[in-house]
Amino acid sequence: MIVPRHIAIIMDGNGRWAARRGLSRGSGHQAGAEPVRAVLKAAQKAGVKFLTLYAFSTENWGRPQEEVRGLFELLWQYLESETPELLASGVRLQAIGDTSALPEFARQALASALELTRANQDFPLTLALSYGSRAELTLAARALAEAAAAGRLDPAEITPDRLAAELWTAGLPDPDLLIRTGGDMRLSNFLLWQCAYTEFYFTPTLWPDFGAEEFQAALAAYAARERRYGLAEA
Ligand code: FPP
Repeated sequence: MIVPRHIAIIMDGNGRWAARRGLSRGSGHQAGAEPVRAVLKAAQKAGVKFLTLYAFSTENWGRPQEEVRGLFELLWQYLESETPELLASGVRLQAIGDTSALPEFARQALASALELTRANQDFPLTLALSYGSRAELTLAARALAEAAAAGRLDPAEITPDRLAAELWTAGLPDPDLLIRTGGDMRLSNFLLWQCAYTEFYFTPTLWPDFGAEEFQAALAAYAARERRYGLAEA
């Protein structure tokens, strides 16, 4: 079976999962931490090489303050409890997004987890935190424009590769497979540039109900796809 090298996931549906049980949205997010563990394990076992999770978007800042706070407390908890396991299983934690915007306690926990797992080579797990593709592309355009204005860059040298090197994802291969749970079929400002040729797997399953079994189903769906990258049929 052909296994995607890089999988990106939009973990959606925590709020609805909680509402159906009469619980707070925060409880839904808490329940969403378990599939993160399960999917990480399943991905490593399947031979996936990179995993990228959309944990907090630039748009998520507009949610009620209490929910935002809860999400970062959850991130803090996850990092506190999981870092030893990440370290032991060869995971190198990475982050993309404007992490300077995170509350101080979350920023510190993140910095320390990044530092602790830095030497791990086996498996980059990238958390998108305060991430938005449009912000990422805007910053890249600005950096290139500044370099050109300062005479350090000839505009003729601005190629797709040169632009990609300015993105937060510089160094990460483009995702081969994007999974979105929760039933919506859109990218929601996630990896717009990087997903130019990515295969999509959309499922109505709410993120807290997503597990190793459905992850396998997504892998099987991917293996059945024919990727042509705009070329003619083989
Ligand atoms: C979308 O569900 C999910 C989020 C905004 C947060 C994702 C965070 C987690 C899965 C928590 C665990 C992650 C880590 C890295 C510890 P939603 O609230 O938009 O759901 P809804 O569409 O049903 O309202």
